[in-house]
Amino acid sequence: MKLVAIAGSIADESYNRKLVTYIASHFAQLADIEILSINDVPMFSQDDDQTDSAPIQYLTHKIEAADGVILATPEHNHTLAPVLKNVIEWLSFNVHPFTNKPVLIVGASYYTQGSSRAQLALRQVLEAPGVGALVMPSDEFLLADVRTAFDDHGNLKDERTVKFLGSVMAKFVKWVTVLASMQEKTHTEPWRQEDLNAGNPTDTTVKDVAMGADDWVEQAAEKTSAASGHDYVKLDRGLLTVDQLNWFLNTFPMEATFMDDNNQFIYYNHFLDHDDMLAPRYPKNVGNPAANCHPERARDHVKQVIWMLRSGQTDRFSMPVPGNKVNAKWIMHYYQAMHDADGNYRGVNEWVLDTWPIVADYLKRTGQTLVATPDAKADATTGASDAGAAPAPLTAPTTPATPDATTGASEAKAATPLVPPVAPAAPAAPDASTGASEH
Ligand SMILES: Cc1cc2nc3c(=O)[nH]c(=O)nc-3n(C[C@H](O)[C@H](O)[C@H](O)COP(=O)(O)O)c2cc1C
Repeated sequence: MKLVAIAGSIADESYNRKLVTYIASHFAQLADIEILSINDVPMFSQDDDQTDSAPIQYLTHKIEAADGVILATPEHNHTLAPVLKNVIEWLSFNVHPFTNKPVLIVGASYYTQGSSRAQLALRQVLEAPGVGALVMPSDEFLLADVRTAFDDHGNLKDERTVKFLGSVMAKFVKWVTVLASMQEKTHTEPWRQEDLNAGNPTDTTVKDVAMGADDWVEQAAEKTSAASGHDYVKLDRGLLTVDQLNWFLNTFPMEATFMDDNNQFIYYNHFLDHDDMLAPRYPKNVGNPAANCHPERARDHVKQVIWMLRSGQTDRFSMPVPGNKVNAKWIMHYYQAMHDADGNYRGVNEWVLDTWPIVADYLKRTGQTLVATPDAKADATTGASDAGAAPAPLTAPTTPATPDATTGASEAKAATPLVPPVAPAAPAAPDASTGASEH
């Protein structure tokens, strides 16, 4: 078993480094433990992304390749030291090597509580979304009074302490093994067979055109002698020219995407520029395999959604996804399975729209307003509830209603201005659930 260990201190004579050095040599029979240095890690700043720098890449790769991680934390002012928190910030920003990684926390400090508060704080940090470590529960190894704990050779002096540390290490090794076998089992789940690299061409796949080409549309159109402009296309119930079809599709008040049954992104209704879209995409993205449209962290979720649709578990899946438009209130993504006449799955129709204007219009015309119920269950998938704004039921206005002067259609009109619901809190990382907005 390969483990890596990090001391959360950059002091020359760090006791926590002493502790991990001792663990690595004393328990070498249990696991191969490599000590990683954090001395060169720059100060985290979101404005100066140094994820590609050597120290961050080194830590990322080492942690990713390891079966588990041992973190030894000092206690500074009753919490973990900033150098360790700094490392974790880098490793939960654009890279996420701790995700599902078994972690053992240990710690050494001067005083009797021996890093207990720092360990608690570190546990909380490691379990935050974006970090996602699997911190071993129950046992804590606290090395108090550390200034007298080691002999001149760097060995722990107290036998009972060594014995206890041995039992914690044995438990950790066992735990890492159990988690690894569980993860192997999970890897046999059927949704994992979804190939986001579009490696299973179907009868509509355009051959011999690179999916990643910026001009895939132009090349594929030439290859297939595609209809264009004034050419007529016979549809299920109608006949349109290609121009008419474009006018039609580009005036639906939503962003629509076609991903075919080979998981290749082959169309979107391009009526907005990238920066004006709720789910931004560029014209050159068309033709890409789905893998190119979603960040690594989102791909398993994308596979799960596609598999649900392909396997017929559901025909439609929907979810709110905070997008890039600050004034949009409630952006919904809908994923609809498409089928041919014989019922075969032929891909996903994804449409995205801000549903708030529809709700606001309804409220205005009917004179109702939104009121949150105290015990409303919030959407656990998206974290939308974090803002404290659970989807609220409609209730009648408390003030007397007056007829709607514009249409007369509604019986009532709100006497007070309508207040939109609080916009959902954006997840820490955009589109944490599916990455769907990253097309
Ligand atoms: C700013 C500062 C705050 C500290 N706060 C605590 C504390 O809250 N609890 C504690 O047990 N030790 C505290 N210490 C002492 C540390 O336990 C001690 O410096 C320890 O050696 C740090 O680990 P290291 O040698 O691996 O860097 C503090 C030290 C510093 C410099």
